[in-house]
Amino acid sequence: MSERSRTTHNRVEVMHGVNLDMLGRRPSEHYGDLGLDELVTQVKRFARELDLEVRFFHSNHEGEFVEHLHRARGMTDGVVLNPGAWTHYSWAIRDALEIAALPAVEVHLSDLSEREEWRRRSVLDGLVIGSVAGKGPEGYREALAMLKEQIEK
Ligand code: DQA
Repeated sequence: MSERSRTTHNRVEVMHGVNLDMLGRRPSEHYGDLGLDELVTQVKRFARELDLEVRFFHSNHEGEFVEHLHRARGMTDGVVLNPGAWTHYSWAIRDALEIAALPAVEVHLSDLSEREEWRRRSVLDGLVIGSVAGKGPEGYREALAMLKEQIEK
Protein backbone atom coordinates (compact mmCIF):
# COMPACT_ATOMS: atom_id res chain seq x y z
CA MET A 1 0.00 0.00 0.00
CA SER A 2 1.35 3.42 -0.92
CA GLU A 3 1.74 6.22 1.61
CA ARG A 4 -0.64 8.26 -0.48
CA SER A 5 -3.51 5.78 -0.31
CA ARG A 6 -3.00 5.42 3.45
CA THR A 7 -3.40 9.10 3.99
CA THR A 8 -6.10 9.91 1.44
CA HIS A 9 -8.54 7.09 2.34
CA ASN A 10 -9.28 6.24 -1.25
CA ARG A 11 -9.34 2.44 -1.21
CA VAL A 12 -12.52 0.72 -2.32
CA GLU A 13 -13.28 -3.00 -2.42
CA VAL A 14 -15.79 -4.02 -5.10
CA MET A 15 -17.43 -7.32 -4.19
CA HIS A 16 -19.52 -9.51 -6.48
CA GLY A 17 -21.54 -12.42 -5.20
CA VAL A 18 -23.32 -15.48 -6.43
CA ASN A 19 -23.78 -15.96 -10.20
CA LEU A 20 -22.22 -12.62 -11.13
CA ASP A 21 -19.39 -14.55 -12.81
CA MET A 22 -22.09 -15.80 -15.20
CA LEU A 23 -22.84 -12.32 -16.57
CA GLY A 24 -22.84 -12.66 -20.33
CA ARG A 25 -24.88 -15.87 -20.02
CA ARG A 26 -27.74 -14.32 -18.05
CA PRO A 27 -30.86 -12.63 -19.47
CA SER A 28 -29.54 -9.62 -21.38
CA GLU A 29 -32.77 -7.66 -20.91
CA HIS A 30 -31.82 -7.41 -17.22
CA TYR A 31 -28.04 -7.59 -17.24
CA GLY A 32 -26.85 -6.47 -20.68
CA ASP A 33 -24.17 -8.49 -22.48
CA LEU A 34 -20.99 -7.65 -20.58
CA GLY A 35 -19.14 -10.45 -18.84
CA LEU A 36 -17.78 -9.94 -15.32
CA ASP A 37 -14.24 -9.27 -16.62
CA GLU A 38 -15.51 -6.53 -18.92
CA LEU A 39 -17.58 -5.05 -16.12
CA VAL A 40 -14.47 -5.04 -13.92
CA THR A 41 -12.53 -3.23 -16.68
CA GLN A 42 -15.20 -0.53 -16.81
CA VAL A 43 -15.31 -0.14 -13.04
CA LYS A 44 -11.51 0.22 -12.98
CA ARG A 45 -11.86 3.10 -15.43
CA PHE A 46 -14.55 4.78 -13.30
CA ALA A 47 -12.28 4.40 -10.25
CA ARG A 48 -9.32 5.93 -12.07
CA GLU A 49 -11.44 8.91 -13.09
CA LEU A 50 -12.50 9.38 -9.46
CA ASP A 51 -8.95 8.88 -8.17
CA LEU A 52 -9.94 5.80 -6.17
CA GLU A 53 -7.80 2.72 -5.64
CA VAL A 54 -10.04 -0.21 -6.40
CA ARG A 55 -9.78 -3.95 -5.76
CA PHE A 56 -12.15 -6.70 -6.78
CA PHE A 57 -13.48 -9.85 -5.17
CA HIS A 58 -15.94 -12.44 -6.45
CA SER A 59 -17.26 -15.63 -4.91
CA ASN A 60 -20.15 -18.02 -5.41
CA HIS A 61 -19.69 -19.22 -1.82
CA GLU A 62 -21.52 -17.31 0.87
CA GLY A 63 -19.00 -18.20 3.59
CA GLU A 64 -16.10 -16.90 1.50
CA PHE A 65 -17.99 -13.70 0.84
CA VAL A 66 -18.66 -13.35 4.59
CA GLU A 67 -14.99 -14.02 5.44
CA HIS A 68 -13.85 -11.45 2.91
CA LEU A 69 -16.04 -8.89 4.69
CA HIS A 70 -14.47 -9.96 8.00
CA ARG A 71 -11.04 -9.15 6.54
CA ALA A 72 -12.15 -5.87 4.95
CA ARG A 73 -11.69 -3.60 7.94
CA GLY A 74 -8.24 -2.04 7.79
CA MET A 75 -7.78 -3.33 4.24
CA THR A 76 -10.10 -0.85 2.60
CA ASP A 77 -11.92 2.42 3.24
CA GLY A 78 -15.25 1.46 1.71
CA VAL A 79 -17.14 -1.30 -0.04
CA VAL A 80 -19.26 -1.46 -3.18
CA LEU A 81 -21.20 -4.69 -3.21
CA ASN A 82 -23.47 -6.57 -5.56
CA PRO A 83 -24.26 -9.77 -3.67
CA GLY A 84 -26.58 -11.11 -6.42
CA ALA A 85 -29.48 -13.18 -5.06
CA TRP A 86 -27.94 -13.18 -1.54
CA THR A 87 -29.16 -9.58 -1.41
CA HIS A 88 -32.65 -10.85 -0.85
CA TYR A 89 -32.14 -13.43 1.90
CA SER A 90 -28.63 -13.64 3.35
CA TRP A 91 -28.83 -12.22 6.86
CA ALA A 92 -25.31 -13.63 7.32
CA ILE A 93 -24.02 -11.15 4.74
CA ARG A 94 -25.90 -8.32 6.41
CA ASP A 95 -24.31 -9.25 9.76
CA ALA A 96 -20.84 -9.50 8.17
CA LEU A 97 -21.21 -6.06 6.61
CA GLU A 98 -22.27 -4.69 9.98
CA ILE A 99 -19.15 -6.28 11.53
CA ALA A 100 -16.99 -4.71 8.81
CA ALA A 101 -18.30 -1.31 9.97
CA LEU A 102 -17.28 0.36 6.73
CA PRO A 103 -19.25 2.70 4.50
CA ALA A 104 -20.88 0.59 1.80
CA VAL A 105 -23.00 1.10 -1.30
CA GLU A 106 -25.13 -1.64 -2.84
CA VAL A 107 -25.33 -1.92 -6.64
CA HIS A 108 -27.58 -3.97 -8.90
CA LEU A 109 -27.32 -3.97 -12.66
CA SER A 110 -31.04 -4.62 -13.12
CA ASP A 111 -34.01 -2.58 -11.99
CA LEU A 112 -35.22 -4.56 -8.98
CA SER A 113 -38.38 -2.47 -8.64
CA GLU A 114 -39.54 -3.73 -12.05
CA ARG A 115 -38.85 -7.41 -11.41
CA GLU A 116 -40.28 -10.19 -9.21
CA GLU A 117 -41.65 -9.24 -5.81
CA TRP A 118 -38.94 -11.26 -3.97
CA ARG A 119 -36.19 -9.10 -5.46
CA ARG A 120 -37.63 -5.94 -3.88
CA ARG A 121 -36.35 -6.73 -0.41
CA SER A 122 -32.70 -6.15 0.40
CA VAL A 123 -31.16 -7.46 3.62
CA LEU A 124 -28.76 -4.51 3.39
CA ASP A 125 -31.48 -1.88 3.87
CA GLY A 126 -30.56 0.63 6.53
CA LEU A 127 -26.93 -0.53 6.63
CA VAL A 128 -25.65 0.84 3.34
CA ILE A 129 -25.19 4.55 2.70
CA GLY A 130 -26.78 4.16 -0.73
CA SER A 131 -28.24 1.76 -3.23
CA VAL A 132 -28.17 1.98 -7.03
CA ALA A 133 -30.21 -0.32 -9.27
CA GLY A 134 -31.24 -0.49 -12.90
CA LYS A 135 -28.42 1.60 -14.33
CA GLY A 136 -26.23 -1.23 -15.61
CA PRO A 137 -22.45 -0.71 -15.31
CA GLU A 138 -22.99 3.06 -14.90
CA GLY A 139 -24.49 2.30 -11.51
CA TYR A 140 -21.00 1.39 -10.29
CA ARG A 141 -19.73 4.86 -11.21
CA GLU A 142 -22.53 6.36 -9.14
CA ALA A 143 -21.79 4.01 -6.25
CA LEU A 144 -18.06 4.86 -6.31
CA ALA A 145 -18.85 8.58 -6.36
CA MET A 146 -21.17 8.20 -3.35
CA LEU A 147 -18.51 6.30 -1.43
CA LYS A 148 -15.81 8.81 -2.35
CA GLU A 149 -17.90 11.64 -0.94
CA GLN A 150 -18.43 9.71 2.28
CA ILE A 151 -14.85 8.51 2.86
CA GLU A 152 -13.30 11.88 2.10
CA LYS A 153 -15.48 13.64 4.67
C1 DQA B 1 -28.61 -8.54 -9.24
C2 DQA B 1 -30.12 -8.68 -8.96
C3 DQA B 1 -30.40 -9.91 -8.13
O1 DQA B 1 -31.81 -10.01 -7.89
C4 DQA B 1 -29.96 -11.15 -8.89
O2 DQA B 1 -30.21 -12.30 -8.11
C5 DQA B 1 -28.56 -11.06 -9.35
C6 DQA B 1 -28.05 -9.80 -9.86
C7 DQA B 1 -28.32 -7.36 -10.20
O3 DQA B 1 -27.15 -6.99 -10.34
O4 DQA B 1 -29.25 -6.83 -10.82
O5 DQA B 1 -27.84 -12.06 -9.38
O6 DQA B 1 -27.94 -8.28 -8.02
